[in-house]
Amino acid sequence: MDFMAPIHIALIWVPIFQGATGVTFTLINKCDYTVWPGILANAGSSGLDSTGFELQPGGSRNLQVEPNWSGRFWGRTGCNFDPNTQQGSCTTGDCGSSQVQCNGGGASPPATLAEFTIGSGTQDFYDVSLVDGYNLPIMVDPTGGSGTCGPTGCLVDLNQRCPDELRAEERAACKSACEAFERPEYCCSGAYASPATCKPSVYSQMFKSACPKSYSYAYDDATSTFTCTGADYTITFCPSTTSQKSARDSAAPPPPSGIGSETGTGEIPLIVNSPWFTNFFNGHSSKSHSCSFSFIATLTMLIFLSLQYS
Ligand SMILES: *[C@@H]1O[C@H](CO)[C@@H](O)[C@H](O)[C@H]1NC(C)=O
Repeated sequence: MDFMAPIHIALIWVPIFQGATGVTFTLINKCDYTVWPGILANAGSSGLDSTGFELQPGGSRNLQVEPNWSGRFWGRTGCNFDPNTQQGSCTTGDCGSSQVQCNGGGASPPATLAEFTIGSGTQDFYDVSLVDGYNLPIMVDPTGGSGTCGPTGCLVDLNQRCPDELRAEERAACKSACEAFERPEYCCSGAYASPATCKPSVYSQMFKSACPKSYSYAYDDATSTFTCTGADYTITFCPSTTSQKSARDSAAPPPPSGIGSETGTGEIPLIVNSPWFTNFFNGHSSKSHSCSFSFIATLTMLIFLSLQYS
């Protein structure tokens, strides 16, 4: 019985420590341009150690939050901050702070939003929202949690498919119908302020068909809210840059990996790992190399032995 005690103690303490350390967010920029993430904690949530920073292409950064934190992340694009005064602004997702840090400012629409309500030993809720429009593709990927924990996001470049009447910032963003037309039926306000009266519009349906897992209008909860318990989260800007590149350069042959990102369904792509094939063939060829080597070695030894004893 005695030797079991440390195991029991470990089993009891591990979940408590996990709950106490909160949640780690990893932000990754896979865009071929710089992104300045912005972070806004909801009222009542203690802030993070950063409310905005610069993320070069290929860069990543970790952020910790306490249990019970809620707030949102987005990507600012086309920012220009003066190297001397640190003052500046961004083409999309600007938070009005005139600085790299957003300091409590939210994203100016249109902007794709990754929204989180972190639990405390209970479920987290998360979604990617196009309710305030779209500026760049974002994917949210939970790791190490329990429960449904599905990845979500809007992976396609909606700027390429944005209807003329919703276009913003010279194709760098796409407005929501609510922002473009300010009508209550698009904004789910006034007489339309309930799930029963506010229905999808042709515009929200266009967003939804491109990005089926994202919020396309205010009452789109059923297919757009995800849950997970005890996870960390990776937030990736431009999870598949291949689709943007191929959209720009249609003469380019289709890339060998990332199949699914070109289909434009907005589904999380099932990455067919071409490195697996490479490894397979490499492994095969190195094996046959060593086979032929040992074959020659054996043959040499047999010849040597037969010469010795003849
Ligand atoms: C989180 O919120 C719940 C409900 O308000 C509260 O009971 C709990 O103590 C909070 N946890 C932490 C770590 O702040």
